[in-house]
Amino acid sequence: MKKRIFSGIKPSGDLHLGNYLGAIKNWVKLQDEYDSIFCVVDMHAITVPQEPEMLRKRAIEIAKIYLACGIDPQKCSIFIQSHISEHAELAWILNTITKIPELEKMTQFKDKSAKNGRESASVGLFDYPVLMASDILLYNTQLVPVGEDQLQHIELARTLAKRFNKRFGDTFFAPEAYIQKEGMRIMALDNPNKKMSKSSQTENSYISLSDNADIVRRKVKKAVTDSGSEIVYSDEKLALKNLINIYSLLENKMPKEIEKTFTGKKYADFKTELAEVIIKFLQPFQKRMMDLSDNKVLKILEDGAKKTRPLAKKKLEEVKKKIGFVV
Ligand code: AMP
Ligand code: TRP
Repeated sequence: MKKRIFSGIKPSGDLHLGNYLGAIKNWVKLQDEYDSIFCVVDMHAITVPQEPEMLRKRAIEIAKIYLACGIDPQKCSIFIQSHISEHAELAWILNTITKIPELEKMTQFKDKSAKNGRESASVGLFDYPVLMASDILLYNTQLVPVGEDQLQHIELARTLAKRFNKRFGDTFFAPEAYIQKEGMRIMALDNPNKKMSKSSQTENSYISLSDNADIVRRKVKKAVTDSGSEIVYSDEKLALKNLINIYSLLENKMPKEIEKTFTGKKYADFKTELAEVIIKFLQPFQKRMMDLSDNKVLKILEDGAKKTRPLAKKKLEEVKKKIGFVV
């Protein structure tokens, strides 16, 4: 029996190179080896205000991105979270075994609620990690491939699984995070101490998956570098290290190899090359995106939900019985 993996991305903004290198690229690699479920988590997206038409458009776009990156619907299930209502139902039940301080200590909640003031943060934003635990636990997920920033949430899913099992008998599998060392944190181009993020105010801090060649060249050129001029991969030169990481992941080359290629060359030479490496990845990817029609993607999402729903139904029924609901 193959191990099950589950992961998802919110349709809440432009996806960037960090999302690809930190998450989706790994999923593509894992799909042959694991029984894989990939979700477009629209219910998570609405924990902060979304414009309805935009949300709908972006949900379909995220699915297109999965497909254009190489997720194969013959091998995996791809679906939209809100199409399987069991996610919300299980989240409610898990809410009742989650303690308020467990959510209060979540870094993502603290960061996001600080942005517009805690008073205006929604209860949904507070509860976000419980819905995520529900996504994961519904499918007996063993591994959750994500970037490092999600570790705390997966830890909560483990805690809730164990707590439920202890109280009601063996029901849930306690999942583990699957984190690739490389790519786990792609940093912002304008600040190597901040992760590349779609919520960043400055457009120059990230490469969007929809950027054209000129924009990529401009952004890479503007990326901050460290003092000195030698191309070396080191913690002393975090900005350059980040750029080498991006190069390394896109070209499947070791950082040492890249250092060697650029011995004697200048930052500017390296950046020019890096921009071309990024464009070489983005152009065919964008072409595949364009070739995918909405209708085709909607059909894939519908099939994905059809395939996945019975698993969710079965698990939720088991949970309802165990907690004493009349079923
Ligand atoms: P988000 O953009 O927060 O919805 O994240 C979607 C997925 O991309 C998650 O698995 C994140 O851990 C991953 N991710 C987001 N930003 C980065 C980054 N800068 N570096 C690596 N992975 C990232
Ligand atoms: N919280 C994740 C993020 O921001 C998205 C997500 C929701 C997720 N449910 C999930 C990831 C389940 C993995 C498994 O990236």
